[in-house]
Amino acid sequence: MTTTTTPPPPPPQSLTDDGLVPLGGVSQEEEDGNVFSHYYGQLSHQQNMLQDAIRTTTYQQAIFQNAADFKGSKVIDVGTGSGVLAFFSAQAGAEKVYGIEMSRIAVAAKKLMEANGMAGKIDIVKGKVEEVELPLGDGKKVDIIVSEPLGFLLVHERMLESYIVARDRWLKPGGKMFPTNSTVFTAPFSDKELYDECMAKSSFWDYKDFYGLDLTCMKEAAKEEHFSQPVVGYFNPDCLLCKTTSDKVN
Ligand SMILES: C[S@@+](CC[C@H](N)C(=O)[O-])C[C@H]1O[C@@H](n2cnc3c(N)ncnc32)[C@H](O)[C@@H]1O
Repeated sequence: MTTTTTPPPPPPQSLTDDGLVPLGGVSQEEEDGNVFSHYYGQLSHQQNMLQDAIRTTTYQQAIFQNAADFKGSKVIDVGTGSGVLAFFSAQAGAEKVYGIEMSRIAVAAKKLMEANGMAGKIDIVKGKVEEVELPLGDGKKVDIIVSEPLGFLLVHERMLESYIVARDRWLKPGGKMFPTNSTVFTAPFSDKELYDECMAKSSFWDYKDFYGLDLTCMKEAAKEEHFSQPVVGYFNPDCLLCKTTSDKVN
């Protein structure tokens, strides 16, 4: 284990007209230090999210139906991506919106907002929510935070944590968050294919003579390791051991 001193916070990064803040030879992903940054930096992945009509329309309705809250407000969009939620917030009457985005898609967001007449109203700030500084003035906070931080089972991607960081840094007392709560549905399932896959991976440790090594004393530990890994993905609904959707955990 190594001990490190906490580095000073990086200076606020604002975008130039034509691109990213220069990174001095460090790749964008290294700079971001977040495994999802490269993924979200691609237009195709932002497009996938935008084209998820249920998702995008639900957010639009949530914002428009609460336009009274947005009118004249200061808003932060945490992980603005293409800028779409910042845009909805401005349309709903926000006076000023800060769209914070860690990946290079921030460049696209800035262009999109400018091309849609939102220059001056929506500022795209490139960087991590945990690190950027906003030009809010001393002790100033915002009225509303919007975000789409939801991963599989809510917490995958760990973006909820950044949403909370934004709340603690910038939301004024009594301020609003969109969204504020979620419902997670859980059900037991049994997936033979997944089971066989884990067993096959562990079977490597059945070797009694691997370059002369007997590996078998590690078999149980390897099995335990493979079977204790969380698996994120889709499974066939036929694997469900329970058909009800009525048991929910809030
Ligand atoms: C699920 S996408 C949502 C994008 C957009 N808000 C939308 O609704 O289409 C989450 C975005 O948040 C960004 N992001 C994730 N963690 C972040 C952090 N800690 N700071 C800044 N941006 C972050 C990602 O790069 C990604 O573009």
